[in-house]
Amino acid sequence: MEYATRGDRTASCLSFLCKIVVLLGLAAAAASGQLMDDYYDYCCPQVYRIVRSRVAAAMKAEMRMGASLLRLHFHDCFVNGCDASILLDGTNSEKFAAPNNNSVRGYEVIDAIKADLESACPGVVSCADIVALAAKYGVLLSGGPDYDVLLGRRDGLVANQTGANSNLPSPFDSISVITARFKDVGLNATDVVVLSGAHTIGRSRCLLFSNRLANFSATNSVDPTLDSSLASSLQQVCRGGADQLAALDVNSADAFDNHYYQNLLANKGLLASDQGLVSSSGDPAVAATKALVQAYSANGQRFSCDFGNSMVKMGNISPLTGSAGQIRKNCRAVN
Ligand code: HEM
Ligand SMILES: *[C@@H]1O[C@H](CO)[C@@H](O)[C@H](O)[C@H]1NC(C)=O
Ligand SMILES: *[C@@H]1O[C@H](CO)[C@@H](O)[C@H](O)[C@H]1NC(C)=O
Ligand SMILES: *[C@@H]1O[C@H](CO)[C@@H](O)[C@H](O)[C@H]1NC(C)=O
Ligand SMILES: *[C@@H]1O[C@H](CO)[C@@H](O)[C@H](O)[C@H]1NC(C)=O
Repeated sequence: MEYATRGDRTASCLSFLCKIVVLLGLAAAAASGQLMDDYYDYCCPQVYRIVRSRVAAAMKAEMRMGASLLRLHFHDCFVNGCDASILLDGTNSEKFAAPNNNSVRGYEVIDAIKADLESACPGVVSCADIVALAAKYGVLLSGGPDYDVLLGRRDGLVANQTGANSNLPSPFDSISVITARFKDVGLNATDVVVLSGAHTIGRSRCLLFSNRLANFSATNSVDPTLDSSLASSLQQVCRGGADQLAALDVNSADAFDNHYYQNLLANKGLLASDQGLVSSSGDPAVAATKALVQAYSANGQRFSCDFGNSMVKMGNISPLTGSAGQIRKNCRAVN
């Protein structure tokens, strides 16, 4: 057997201290049930560097991955809270629910981050916190705001495919229905408008908006709230089939900015649920959403600031804290 080096001893000493700190943190978290921004400062201060570098590498290979990781966090939080239930494989996996199947991406990036963290700080960082941090760096490295993520979530023990099918909003829902879905998880109409601004980055498949491009209604072949030159170019793209991709923000697909809102005021929203924030006449929810779209369109600074706040709010949906749940070793399965 080899002698332990000084480094090894320091490491094991640290990990002993960490266990104590984690236990204390656990007690504090159990008492307050609250997430904190410095949760890993003693036990895994490397967490930020590790998540950031994996997200940066993934985005270097494919810039869109920043958007995909942001959406992964949203689809996790709306189903049984932000508990990484979306990452579980097997029966009942949320990955195969309609809003996620062939749609949500980034699972491999989370696996790679988890593997790095299990070697750096075994058993310490939850998959749910990894997803929240990966979303943060997806936003930041796309040029978006640098908000403080609250941490200390633990991982859920069950997936909920039924929940994924019922809780997540559809692009075909009215703004009133979408607002109700958000309300179910403690988010309000402001959060709907602010978080829809996530569509300043990323892509959508044609099948989720092509109804706007042809045979739209008895009176209009193309959705009258869709700019006609954008409609023509989307018709071209979608001739390639339902799985073809188009930018959610036609102006700057990979840059996190406030063009999304400017697009909506120019009838250049991609999804019906995007354009609906300003254009769905007759929907009682729209007066308020339209006023906010105008505000964010004029003031990118205000959008950045409010986006960080709403992300923290979304990240706080029913987290497991204290001794609830567990810290998964492998994000795809319970221990
Ligand atoms: C307001 C209700 C929302 C609806 C109806 C909606 C719907 C959609 C749809 C249909 C897509 C395209 C999926 C596909 O092509 O398979 C999409 C993509 C996306 N969504 Fe949403 N979404 C909503 C809210 C949000 C929120 C709250 C976030 C994050 C905070 C978000 C982030 C994203 C991102 C970043 C993408 C692009 C993903 C990629 O390129 O991989 N969305 N959304
Ligand atoms: C998910 O997508 C795959 C591939 O398109 C398909 O074969 C499968 O039936 C879908 N699963 C569900 C539950 O719809
Ligand atoms: C699944 O989600 C639904 C809707 O949020 C909820 O009512 C149900 O209790 C959840 N089931 C499990 C097993 O967590
Ligand atoms: C939504 O909640 C935030 C606080 O989280 C609050 O500042 C905002 O005014 C609320 N918006 C509405 C429409 O109630
Ligand atoms: C749309 O309507 C045209 C006739 O106006 C028809 O040929 C076509 O099949 C329809 N497309 C779809 C997707 O229903």
